[in-house]
Amino acid sequence: MMTLLRVSLILLGVVALSTGEADKAALKEQVLEMFMHGYNSYMKYAWPADELMPLTCAGRVRGVTPSRGDVDDSLGNFSLTLIDTLDTLIVVGAYDEFEDAVKKVVENVRFDSDLIVSVFETNIRVLGGLISGHLMSELLRGQQPQRLKWYTDRQLLKMAVDLGDRLLPAFNTSSGLPYSRINLRNGMSDHLKRQKDTCTACGGTMLLEMAALSRLTGNPVYEEKARKAMDFLWSQRHRSSDLMGTVLDVHNGAWVRRDSGIGAGIDSYYEYCLKAYILLGDHAYLERFNRHYDAVMRYVNKGPLFFDVQMHRPTIATRSFMDSLLAFWPGLQVLKGDISEAVQMHEMLFQVVQKHKFLPEAFTHDLQVHWAEHPLRPEFIESTYFLYRATRDPHYLEVAKTVMDSLNDHVRVKCGWAGVKDIRVMTHEDRMDSFVLSETFKYLYLIFAESDDLIFDPDNYVLTTEAHFLPLHLGDSKENALPRRLMLDPDERLSDAALRSVRPVLPLYGAQKSKERLGEEARAVRERTQNVLEELNALQRHSSGQQVSPQQVCSQNAERLRAIDFNPSNPAQLQQLQEMGITLSYGEDSRLLLTHQGTAAKSQEHAQWGIIFMTEIAEMARAGSAEPSPAAPADPIYVQLLTPPHLGLPVLTGSLALYGSKLHTRANGRITIAQPLRACGTLENRNEVKDSIVIVERSDCMFIEKTRIAQAAGAVGVIVIDSNPDSAWAGSASFSMSGDTKSDDDVHVPTVFLFRKEGEWLMKVREKKREAVDQKEASPDSFLFIADHWFSTWLLHQRERRISGAKEAPICLHTDGLVARIVIDEENEGAGPLYVQFAFRFGPVSTESEPIEHQGIVERHVNHIGSIAEFESNEERHAFMNLVRSAGYHSLGLSVKDEPMTPRLANALRTAIIEETMPDSISGLTGDLTRVRCYVTDKMIPCEIVP
Ligand SMILES: *[C@@H]1O[C@H](CO)[C@@H](O)[C@H](O)[C@H]1NC(C)=O
Ligand SMILES: *[C@@H]1O[C@H](CO)[C@@H](O)[C@H](O)[C@H]1NC(C)=O
Repeated sequence: MMTLLRVSLILLGVVALSTGEADKAALKEQVLEMFMHGYNSYMKYAWPADELMPLTCAGRVRGVTPSRGDVDDSLGNFSLTLIDTLDTLIVVGAYDEFEDAVKKVVENVRFDSDLIVSVFETNIRVLGGLISGHLMSELLRGQQPQRLKWYTDRQLLKMAVDLGDRLLPAFNTSSGLPYSRINLRNGMSDHLKRQKDTCTACGGTMLLEMAALSRLTGNPVYEEKARKAMDFLWSQRHRSSDLMGTVLDVHNGAWVRRDSGIGAGIDSYYEYCLKAYILLGDHAYLERFNRHYDAVMRYVNKGPLFFDVQMHRPTIATRSFMDSLLAFWPGLQVLKGDISEAVQMHEMLFQVVQKHKFLPEAFTHDLQVHWAEHPLRPEFIESTYFLYRATRDPHYLEVAKTVMDSLNDHVRVKCGWAGVKDIRVMTHEDRMDSFVLSETFKYLYLIFAESDDLIFDPDNYVLTTEAHFLPLHLGDSKENALPRRLMLDPDERLSDAALRSVRPVLPLYGAQKSKERLGEEARAVRERTQNVLEELNALQRHSSGQQVSPQQVCSQNAERLRAIDFNPSNPAQLQQLQEMGITLSYGEDSRLLLTHQGTAAKSQEHAQWGIIFMTEIAEMARAGSAEPSPAAPADPIYVQLLTPPHLGLPVLTGSLALYGSKLHTRANGRITIAQPLRACGTLENRNEVKDSIVIVERSDCMFIEKTRIAQAAGAVGVIVIDSNPDSAWAGSASFSMSGDTKSDDDVHVPTVFLFRKEGEWLMKVREKKREAVDQKEASPDSFLFIADHWFSTWLLHQRERRISGAKEAPICLHTDGLVARIVIDEENEGAGPLYVQFAFRFGPVSTESEPIEHQGIVERHVNHIGSIAEFESNEERHAFMNLVRSAGYHSLGLSVKDEPMTPRLANALRTAIIEETMPDSISGLTGDLTRVRCYVTDKMIPCEIVP
């Protein structure tokens, strides 16, 4: 036995060494073969189309291939994949192919297509690809004069200028933050300008490419615009947490989504803060990055895990999963110099990769699949590259090999590499995004390549977020300073000779450690991370009733305080929390706030317990199974104005007070605004208040006192509006108004709390009404409905007609059965409205979910509905699918551009063959069936949910 054991240990040692330096050359050749399989397939089946569809072996052409919605905004009829791949061809040494590709781009690609594209994607993929393609062309020609003899006129750079100029009108906003989409030929139409929301990363990932363009051409305008956008974003950070939200308004900078993480929607803004410093040498960007970085590591990071939080209340987690885009973070941490944190997070990601073969688009905090797609994204392998460069630890060669094997085993298809629709069953998707060739294979190759395999030294470059190489000399100041250089390799850091010839650019340069030392430390960090994750996992299994060995549970849980047992008024437990590094405080709404700080814990073990405790709390808050806060979140209450022109829209969401009427039925009445607004003393307008729903403002006295005062004046309902000037239902923690210690039996009027944004809307409507009344234009009152569920505008409309006798409003459709309708022709020559009807199932997604989830579920619906509708032309089909798509997004309560109902489409719909869709035929879609109702105003089709 002993002998056997020893033998196997030795074998293990040999295996571990086998992916060492010796194998790198073979693995590099293997990556080259893999890359060429993708590239040749693209050239053979797809070029000059933007992307390859690897299952149908054809090109994806916008306007011809059925639209997939927003994803297609990266396609612009500009041979996207070819441009994005140019510098990878140089990296892998495919110089003949490079020369041919440059020629094809110069001769064939034009940018004046009448297509709407994403400003962000076009910048990082196409502008970045052209600029680095140009620089690589000059480099190759300089080194191998027989090549690219004809490349004498900076042709690719001129194309970059053309494209850059086409993007500039997007920056024409009051803040300087660019609109998210633009028409390549026509610029910003009024229609496009209506989309005022953009994501933080969208506006904050322009500077590297734009600055490179300015510096190569001598025209400062591109860099100026991109800098202004960066400055504006910085000014919109939360002033006390230093965190950024996800989506904001390009004109006034108001946050539309205030959840804050490091993944989708924010990621590359943080990346460009640091990389702008690296490329341009501008210390202001480094300082900004450091502030953001500290905030992220303080609030978003918990051990190896990351929790999205609210930017303004960063101790409150907003969701229970991580998205795959955050996998770039360890790479950024390497550049920041935070190697051990990078090792830790990368290890967590590697656990996910080992468990599921690929990183799913989203995964939960116990590393289970949350969103099972995987479009062969590069972020994990990108981080692996940076960690290998910085540590030379053969572990990262193993990791890269694991990824390669998964690619070969699971996604290699005859015509390229197919994205994965569901990694649990490895079903394929007909997509090979341009980043597969421009990033995924580039990083893989770079891991195995030796420095003399490349015609340039990667340390003299910064990689953009799309992995395009930009040379650091672009940012060198004019005086005769030493050239700047990234110094990632541990060996090079130790060399004095290197220090005399270059200026290291990395911020934490100087924390030098030997390769051996780094390797040892990394191993220790990885082991610790594995232990923490295992423990988390064991607990998770335990709490969900699965098999865990009793011994394991006992030893782990002997002293650990579990969230489910937590009682904030038990002093012994408070002591235990403190030992775990958790501090308790009460927020202004008397909500309990928990903050965890690993370094404040009594021991490493206690710190781990702290992480587990925080995870459990987050889980519990999500599941609503138990609530540690004294103010339990109440079910939402809906407030609707039913007088025209509102007819129930928008539906405002608030919460009901824990005292007073429980609102079993709905309340309704006129609106009156209390005088004085805060209603802490006798009201001056008692006559008006009588029999109405009165609006008061929070602060100065208790909620219940305001209700008592309003009740005494005869009000039938009270709406308390938040005094915090920028609160809104979206992005706020749920909130409850508690009563006082006195008996609150005396209060019988229902009281509803609205956040500021919703409240202000209501007050504005009331003001408008007043003006109208003064001009004797309209009926004097706005009728409000308050209820614990939404009312369809159709029902409200009927009701309102009885109340006010108003004439027929714009047609409101109601659904019957399980289908919804879009009106094609409301007149229809007296035969009653003509409509098409369809059904939506949303299930797990809601307005709170991530954009990528919305997109996924809406696209599944659109594809399904598209597949049963027949049209004569593709154009009509696309317009129809866009119509369904915008109905889908509207029904999730998201604002999207409205697809106009053109007469042509209306005509096409009249003759379209559309099957009746009954629930059975859409059983492939998950979740509860949601009915969608649409109504036509001014030829736009907003739709909303009918629960
Ligand atoms: C796509 O680009 C080519 C030229 O590169 C042009 O001839 C063609 O009309 C464009 N198609 C669209 C839809 O704009
Ligand atoms: C910028 O927008 C303003 C107002 O919408 C418009 O008048 C102006 O022409 C625009 N400028 C450019 C360069 O597009």
